[in-house]
Amino acid sequence: MSNTAKLQIGDNSYEFPLVKGTENEVAINIKTLRGATNGVITIDPGFKNTGSCESAITFLDGEKGVLRYRGYSIEELADKGGFLEVAYALIFGDLPTEEQLEKFHSDIKSKSLVDDDVKKIVDAFPKTAHPMGVLSSLTSALTAFNPTSVNVDSEEDMYNSVVKIMGKFPVLVAWTMRKKQGLPLNYGSKSLGYVDNILKMMFEQPNEDFKINPIIKNALDKLLILHADHEQNCSTSTVRIVGSSHAGLFASLSAGISALWGPLHGGANQAVLEMLEAIKEDGGDTKKYMAKAKDKNDPFRLMGFGHRVYKNFDPRAKIIKKAADEVLKDLGVEDPILEIARGLEQEALIDPYFVDRKLYPNVDFYSGIIYRAMGIPVEMFTVMFALGRLPGWIAQWKEMRLKKEPIGRPRQIYTGENHRDFLDINKR
Ligand code: CMC
Repeated sequence: MSNTAKLQIGDNSYEFPLVKGTENEVAINIKTLRGATNGVITIDPGFKNTGSCESAITFLDGEKGVLRYRGYSIEELADKGGFLEVAYALIFGDLPTEEQLEKFHSDIKSKSLVDDDVKKIVDAFPKTAHPMGVLSSLTSALTAFNPTSVNVDSEEDMYNSVVKIMGKFPVLVAWTMRKKQGLPLNYGSKSLGYVDNILKMMFEQPNEDFKINPIIKNALDKLLILHADHEQNCSTSTVRIVGSSHAGLFASLSAGISALWGPLHGGANQAVLEMLEAIKEDGGDTKKYMAKAKDKNDPFRLMGFGHRVYKNFDPRAKIIKKAADEVLKDLGVEDPILEIARGLEQEALIDPYFVDRKLYPNVDFYSGIIYRAMGIPVEMFTVMFALGRLPGWIAQWKEMRLKKEPIGRPRQIYTGENHRDFLDINKR
C-alpha cells in the first residue's frame, strides 16, 4: 500500500501521509489540509471516522470483538488480574512487579483521606440528588481542597496526583451512596486491599462488624477491570479535551463523570435495569418490547444493545454474562429479570433488524443484574462504572499531557444567517 492518500478538489490535487498503528490500523493525517487547500476542512458528526489522537493504552477491534489494555487481552486480565494492578498497567504502561504494586497501594492509602469539610458539601445535597451529579460535583470540589495544579513535567508531581485521586475517589463514591441511605460517612481502613476497602466504605453498618464476602469482592474486582478503559469513548474524549486546555486533573475527571452519566453511554446500565423492570411489570412480554425497539416512530431503544465501535459481541458483555450467572448462583439470588434479559438477547440475536445492524449486547446489558445482586442501588450503577473507568481516564489524561497535545478545538461549517443589520427593538 502506498504511504499517501490523494485528494482531488476541483482541478487541484493534494497528497497526505498515512499513519499506521502497531495493529495496522490506518489513518490519513490531514494536519496540513486547511493550510494547503485554502480553508477546506473535514466534517464528521459524532466523529464516526475521526481519530482524535495516537494512543498506546487500549486496543479495540470492533469487527472482531477484541479489547486489550497495554497489549493484555481483557479476557486474561479479568480472569487473572486484580483491579489495582490493571489500573497500574493502564496508567504506567505495564503490569507492576510485586514491589511496585505494594508501593502504589501504600502511596494511595497515604493520600486517601478526604478533607472532613467535604462532608459539609455532601450534606448540602438533597437525598433525592442523582449520585452521578453528586460525584461529579464532589470530584470538582477536590480541586478547591487541593489547589496546587499538577506540574506535568515533574514525574513526582504527576505520580502524587495519580495516587491522590486513586485514594480519594472511592471515598467520594462511598459517601455519595451513604448520604442517600442516611448512613454515617466513613474512611475505610488502611489494612484492607483496595477493592475490599471500597466494599467496607460502601456497605459497613454503624452497628455491626464488617465482613468481606469473597464472591462479592471477586465480582466487583472483575467488573471494575472490565470498565477500566475503552479508548476514545465519549467520557474519555471529554477528559482529554478538558485537560487539553490545561484545566486540572480533578476538573477534567469531573467533566468525564458528567459525560458518562448519559443513557447512551455509562448511564445505560441504570437504564437497562429500569427497562427490564418495566418489562417485568408489564407482564414480561419481550416480543412487545422488541417490536417497540424496531419501530422507528417509537423512541424506545433496547438499552444495553448496540455500540459505536463493536459490530460483533462486546467481549466485556460475554464475560459479564457468565459472571452474572455465577454470582447469582453463588449468592443464592433468583432474579426474574435475568430471564427477561436472556430472552431479549436470544430474540435480538436472530432478529434481522438487530442482525443487519450488527447490534449485540454491550457491557451494560448484564452488569446491572450483578450490581443489584451485590446490594448496590440502581442509581449507583453508573457511579460504579465511573469507579472502574477512573484509571482509564487518568491514563488518557496523563498520556495527552505528556505528549503536549494542543488544545482540542474543532472547526465547523457555519449554516446560519449571512450578515444583516441590527434593527432597533421597536422595528422587529
Ligand atoms: N435499539 C434499537 N435500535 C438501535 C439500537 C438499540 N439499542 N442501537 C442502535 N440502533 C439502530 C439505530 O436506530 C440505527 O438504525 P437505522 O440505521 O435504521 O437508523 C442503527 O441501529 C445504528 O445506530 P446509531 O444510533 O446510528 O449508532 P451509534 O453508533 O450512533 O450509537 C449507541 C451507538 C450505543 C449510542 C446505540 O447503539 C444505542 O443507543 N444503544 C443503547 C444505549 C446503550 O446501551 N449504550 C451503552 C453503550 S456501551 C457502554 C458505553 O459506551 O458506555
